[in-house]
Amino acid sequence: MVTAETNVEYADWKEWDPKDYNKEYYSELTLDGRYLMEWVEESVRLSPPVPVALEFGSGPTVLHTFPLVTKAKEIHLAEYLPVNRAEVEAWVANEPNTHDWSMFTKAFLEMEGHVNPTDADIAAREQDVRSRITRVLPGDAGQKDPLGPDMRGYYPLVTSLCCADSATNNKGTWRLFMENISSLVQPGGMWIISACGEHSYYCVGQRCFPGANISGRDMLNCLLELGYRDIDVRLREVPGSSEHGFGCTILARAIKPKDAPV
Ligand SMILES: C[S@@+](CC[C@H](N)C(=O)[O-])C[C@H]1O[C@@H](n2cnc3c(N)ncnc32)[C@H](O)[C@@H]1O
Repeated sequence: MVTAETNVEYADWKEWDPKDYNKEYYSELTLDGRYLMEWVEESVRLSPPVPVALEFGSGPTVLHTFPLVTKAKEIHLAEYLPVNRAEVEAWVANEPNTHDWSMFTKAFLEMEGHVNPTDADIAAREQDVRSRITRVLPGDAGQKDPLGPDMRGYYPLVTSLCCADSATNNKGTWRLFMENISSLVQPGGMWIISACGEHSYYCVGQRCFPGANISGRDMLNCLLELGYRDIDVRLREVPGSSEHGFGCTILARAIKPKDAPV
C-alpha cells in the first residue's frame, strides 16, 4: 500500500523484524525516547499501588515496564505480533542474545531519584521486572475485546505507547483501536498513552510501517469522547526523529471515571 501524501510504500507486518526494530529505536537514548520515558515515569508516580498493570502493544520492547514495578505487583504484556511476543518472552526468561536494555534501566532509576545506579542496581531492577511479568498475551486492538471478554475493565493501570497510532494509517481505525484498548482500563484506573504526532509512516531500516497521522487535538478529543477525566496531553517537538517519519511526539494520560460503564 502507498500513502497518498508521502508516496511511501508500507511493508507487510510479516516483514517486521523485532531485532531490527530494537536496534533502530533502542540502541541509544534519543530525545523522543527520553520524553516518553519521563512521561511514563512521572505518570506511574501519580498512580496508587495496583495489583496488576498492563503494557499493551509492547512490540519487542520491555523498557516501559521498568517503572511499573514501583506500583504494580504483577505486570501483563500484550502484543499483536508473535515474533515480538517471542522476543519479550526470551528477555523475561533471561535467554542470551536478547536486547540490552540496561541504559534505559539506568535512566529510569535516575529519573526515580537513584543517584549513580550501579550495575547491581540495574540488574536488580531488571530481575524484579522479570519476576513480575506473569503473562505475555496476544492482543489485537482491532477486536472489541482485545484480550477477550474476561479482561474488560480489568486493569487499573494501562500503558499503550506508540501502539494504536502506529498500527494503522487510518484515523477512523485509530479511533476504534483507542476505544477497544480503553475497554481494558478499569473504572477509576489510569491510562498512559503516547503517539508519534502527525506522521503517516515510521521506518525500520528500509521498511516503513503505517502511522495514523493524528494530532494532539485528535488525542484530546478522543479521550474526552471516551469519557475520561483528569486528562493531560503534552506535545513535544522531536526534530531528530524526522528521518524515522515523525517530528512530534504526543504524550497523554487520563483517568477513567469510577462510575464509567465497563
Ligand atoms: C511502533 S510499535 C510500538 C512498540 C512499543 N510500544 C514501543 O513503544 O516501542 C507498534 C506496535 O503496534 C503493533 N500492532 C500492529 N497491529 C496491531 C493491532 N491490530 N493491535 C495491536 N497492536 C498492533 C505492532 O505489532 C507493533 O508492536
